[in-house]
Amino acid sequence: MSHEVLRGIVLPPPAQPGDPLARIDTPSLMLDLTPFEANLRAMQAWADRHDVALRPHAKAHKCPEIARRQLALGARGICCQKVSEAVPFVAAGIHDIHISNEVVGSAKLALLAQLARTAKMSVCVDNAQNLAQLSQAMAHAGAEIDVLVEVDVGQGRCGVSDDALVLALAQQARDLPGVTFVGLQAYHGSVQHYRTREERAQVCRQAARIAASYAQLLRESGIACDIITGGGTGSAEFDAASGVYTELQAGSYAFMDGDYGANEWDGPLAFQNSLFVLSTVMSVPAPDRVILDAGLKSTTAECGPPAIFDAAGLTYSAINDEHGVVRVAPGVTPPALGDVLRLVPSHVDPTFNLHDGLVVVRDGVVEDVWEIAARGLSR
Ligand SMILES: Cc1ncc(COP(=O)(O)O)c(C=O)c1O
Repeated sequence: MSHEVLRGIVLPPPAQPGDPLARIDTPSLMLDLTPFEANLRAMQAWADRHDVALRPHAKAHKCPEIARRQLALGARGICCQKVSEAVPFVAAGIHDIHISNEVVGSAKLALLAQLARTAKMSVCVDNAQNLAQLSQAMAHAGAEIDVLVEVDVGQGRCGVSDDALVLALAQQARDLPGVTFVGLQAYHGSVQHYRTREERAQVCRQAARIAASYAQLLRESGIACDIITGGGTGSAEFDAASGVYTELQAGSYAFMDGDYGANEWDGPLAFQNSLFVLSTVMSVPAPDRVILDAGLKSTTAECGPPAIFDAAGLTYSAINDEHGVVRVAPGVTPPALGDVLRLVPSHVDPTFNLHDGLVVVRDGVVEDVWEIAARGLSR
């Protein structure tokens, strides 16, 4: 991951194996392996305990090495949100990928068909014309793909919300070449960040009831509905225990972030912060203010600015492109020029998308730098 930018001038990687934390160049995205591995084990154990499959969402991290570790612990496969995003995962030998999204347009369908010739792929549909085009693309490439009808279970994003349409799409998929109907996607995005556990439990019960009624309709019409997939970090507790979902798609659980940290976690599932942006104090202009070298180009802010880990009295108060303004509370000793702080991103997915590499650390020592190979792949 070093780039030769000019003859003889090489941009070095942010860290080397064996480096202590203090030697990592900043801003850098850093994964602390001990909490990360605990998070992976916790979600896998929860899925196993309820006899549902875990298919972690790789859009959270875009990193094949992380997907490999999730699969090694028992995950059935992975999800990707975009066709191009799946390419580096297939190239890395990951062979069971669900595109948890609709894929529209001939270029994308052709790429999906190519991937489906190499890997076991599945995809969502919520439209008859799109399903017909998907079938044509598969037949043209001599490929086969599994199809899940996406149903809207309350979020109001993609997905059909009508018995007749669900049935019609499943029947159409049954009758077309190149596609096989296997089940439903019933993901509810907005419930993930409902703050209280009680609110999440209630909305998840309702979502599961809706999904179950579509599945029953299909079975009564003689169409097997073997998979009901959905669930994220905030709903996995309830979706796994619902008896309706057969598969969980959670992604952020491996890392946690500020937005998920604001949820109430008073149930059996809890996750630790494992992902940090390391940032250096680059200016100390006033006793109550220091400036960091990590801004919007290192950590996104659509869910608020990052938090400063383990540093009482310091607040990341304003975020610019390449600067972060930190307020120092009265009576608190400000960090010194050159000090490195750990930031907790407020939203992991788009933050991963800003970085080429992930500096992987155990017990304060760098083990490796993993490539975030699907970074920028949003087509
Ligand atoms: C379809 C789908 N499934 C699963 C997830 C994973 O959610 P999370 O990273 O919040 O666990 C998302 C996230 O937006 C999603 O859109």
